[in-house]
Amino acid sequence: MLLITICVGSSCSLRGSDELASDLFRLIEKEKLEGLIDIVGAFCMDACSKGVSVRVGDQEFSGIRPEEAETFFYKEVIPRVKTKLTPRTTDESPAVLSCRKEGPT
Ligand code: FES
Repeated sequence: MLLITICVGSSCSLRGSDELASDLFRLIEKEKLEGLIDIVGAFCMDACSKGVSVRVGDQEFSGIRPEEAETFFYKEVIPRVKTKLTPRTTDESPAVLSCRKEGPT
């Protein structure tokens, strides 16, 4: 599950955090990614000066404007979802511990 946290503090609300959240929900539905991405609100994320503050996974963004929702979604959200969905390669197989057959002493 990829978590998107959108600041709903007063400054970000005035800059359109509700509209941004609605657009991101719409895009999640459009791409049929319900259940893979969750959106939650947070209070001030200490980056009020430009636009809405958003965290996608561990990455923080500030200054996101609602009219940038679609560009932001395809540039910053979709790649992170795909990374989470990528199956492991054989190189990433769990290590196999060596076994030793115990014989009579
Ligand atoms: S109100 Fe959103 S970062 Fe401060």
